[in-house]
Amino acid sequence: MNNLTEQIRALAKQKNALILAHYYQSLDVQACADKVGDSFALAKYAKDTGAEIIILCGVRFMAESAKILSPNKTVYLPAPLAGCPMADMVTPDDVLLLRAEHPDAAVVCYVNSSAAVKAVSDVCCTSSSAVKIVNKTPGKNIIFVPDQNLGGYVAEQCPDKNIILFTGFCPTHHKISEQDILDAKAAHPDAVALVHPECRTEVRKHADYLGSTAGIINRAKELFAVGTRSFLIGTEIGVLEILQRDLPDAEVYSIGSTFTCPNMKKTTPEDILACLNGERGELTLDENESRMARLTLEKMVELGG
Ligand code: 13P
Ligand code: SF4
Repeated sequence: MNNLTEQIRALAKQKNALILAHYYQSLDVQACADKVGDSFALAKYAKDTGAEIIILCGVRFMAESAKILSPNKTVYLPAPLAGCPMADMVTPDDVLLLRAEHPDAAVVCYVNSSAAVKAVSDVCCTSSSAVKIVNKTPGKNIIFVPDQNLGGYVAEQCPDKNIILFTGFCPTHHKISEQDILDAKAAHPDAVALVHPECRTEVRKHADYLGSTAGIINRAKELFAVGTRSFLIGTEIGVLEILQRDLPDAEVYSIGSTFTCPNMKKTTPEDILACLNGERGELTLDENESRMARLTLEKMVELGG
């Protein structure tokens, strides 16, 4: 642990602050965290923690989710300009328009959405819970926002549902092409391809495993334990770096050139320190919007996701 990390850890303990970091954060930021996880684990931690201060090292929708679930806690987004371009692709008006066009449909929103979008949705989901949540949502017609790729995956996995897709996508995952995964498989024929469902359908169909960031990391470690030595990773570089660190005897390759979520990389340890020193403004939300969004997130938890 370097000096800055030690200083951050000591100050967090003193102030009863919980530092949460997504797997896409830099390894330096992850080293400062109490918990590193996928969106699902971070949302749950934020809800269950006894800490009074939550510092969410990720992008805006993650810190918003923590604030929605814990309105009385002080929540910080250490890099205030870290947004998620996919979350920004859908607005509450888009959802209301779709509702008017499909009045009998329920709205399932991916957690990668703003508090305002969650407020006009029926239930939220994460990449690891999307299939379960959609299956458990009553009715045949489901409007799924904003990710067309995760929504497409859900449609494949839930044949009894009619999924009405929105057109959003993650610019980072959307970059991987079918040729990229075919080339990677040809270059490493023994490797297992682990892919995030935010990738395009034509990439997903060549994957050996589809799952959230936590799902990919856990699956690679399970496979390593039973003898697999080579992995192709179809998600952001953070996951690749974690696997290269934790499985030094494995070969871990990116599918296509390594790709980065620029927003996830905006946070630095210095930003965390600034939050702990009271030099950053806390995240605030409209009270009514936050109350409505809470119902959507609580519904997700109630349905087991
Ligand atoms: P996970 O839910 O898999 O952590 O994904 C979040 C995300 O933003 C992926 O791009
Ligand atoms: Fe959003 Fe994509 Fe970055 Fe995830 S990787 S935070 S979906 S832009």
